[in-house]
Amino acid sequence: MKKRIILLAASLAIGMTAAAQSSGFKELDEWVDTWKQTQQHFFGYPVNEQSALHGFYEWYLASGMDMVNLNNAGDPMSGSPESYSTHYFEREVIEFFAPLYGFGKGEAWGIVTHSGTDGNNHGIYFGTKYLYNKTRKMPVVYVSDEAHYSNMRLCDLQNLDVRLVKSDDMGRMIPEELEKALDLSRPALVVYAMGSTFKGAIDDQAALNAVLDRHPDLEVYRHVDAALFGGYLPFTEHKAMVSQKEMRFNSIAISGHKFFGIDCPSGLFICTRETYDSQNSFNVAYLNGNMRMINCSRDAVQPLKFWWLIQTVGYDGWAKQAAQMMECTAYLKQQLDKIHYPCWVNAYSNTVFFKRPSADIVRKYNLAQGHDERFGGDLAHIVVMQHVTKDKIDAFISELKSSLKR
Ligand SMILES: Cc1ncc(COP(=O)(O)O)c(C=O)c1O
Repeated sequence: MKKRIILLAASLAIGMTAAAQSSGFKELDEWVDTWKQTQQHFFGYPVNEQSALHGFYEWYLASGMDMVNLNNAGDPMSGSPESYSTHYFEREVIEFFAPLYGFGKGEAWGIVTHSGTDGNNHGIYFGTKYLYNKTRKMPVVYVSDEAHYSNMRLCDLQNLDVRLVKSDDMGRMIPEELEKALDLSRPALVVYAMGSTFKGAIDDQAALNAVLDRHPDLEVYRHVDAALFGGYLPFTEHKAMVSQKEMRFNSIAISGHKFFGIDCPSGLFICTRETYDSQNSFNVAYLNGNMRMINCSRDAVQPLKFWWLIQTVGYDGWAKQAAQMMECTAYLKQQLDKIHYPCWVNAYSNTVFFKRPSADIVRKYNLAQGHDERFGGDLAHIVVMQHVTKDKIDAFISELKSSLKR
């Protein structure tokens, strides 16, 4: 049964090119058919529908690893990998990505997380402890009102005071509003959105850092929520925007199932060594280690998938994909402009938002919906991921045009 489900996942991983293989269960087979139809028009959400893990699943089954119970409980960076874990590969994944996010050699600590939200949870938790252990005061969290809701939810979970900072029309935190919101009597935990979920806005870290720099006595921790954009920006000419060295952030969270194309939720959390060293110690005798991360058991298969993709797609493959996504984003905007359809896109973003089309088009293309009176009310967006190619954009535009004539 387990093997059958993994085979099923493998055929999903190669998407439309896989020949349908019956599971022996009608409900599962019907679900596969429905999902394959849906996948063709999955435009509204930031997931890469061209996962390149078919070879991984073949190897996993052939090696018999599907019969082994693995668990990455513990610290992958401690240098003492347990045999039942994939810590060795997890560490290599962090060591591959840390320089791409501008961390110096030996200056980063990190883990493969369960999701972008898990990475934000670590960023907010580590930030709180970093600031509290320095000042003996609880911080105030500053985050833009356009940032992903997980940040607000996690502050609620961690019982933190939050100041929602106003964003401009395009969704970027307004530096003057951050200045106004600052409570100088308590340390500041600032969450930067790279980019925001609906409008794809990138907070201007340089301008916001300049505001913080005007208060040299204020202790500051910067966490970057780069769930989607942190995937492709390091492979573009705009890589400085997600560079620790350039932007001086303490930690960054990225999703694995978005740009990188891991086929289920996963992510990266990377912070400076100084941040890690300032965390509360939890020496756990039965695990023979210091457990500073939030979770005990952690997924051991996602690090293997990341590692596989580093070997098989790698820097050059991701750079090509990032370039294609940027080109197709510009193409979509251009095609919408050509038919005078109201649409907007932020700089460096792969998310085009526009006047919400008919309910039929929203349903068919799984468009995410938003509302903003400043842009005329009801909106929808397309996230131009690897599978949103020019021919699919042409088909979408043609349907949109026809719907306007009706
Ligand atoms: C900006 C941003 N942050 C965080 C998240 C949450 O990430 P995950 O779904 O990996 O938990 C999302 C999800 O879309 C997002 O867009």
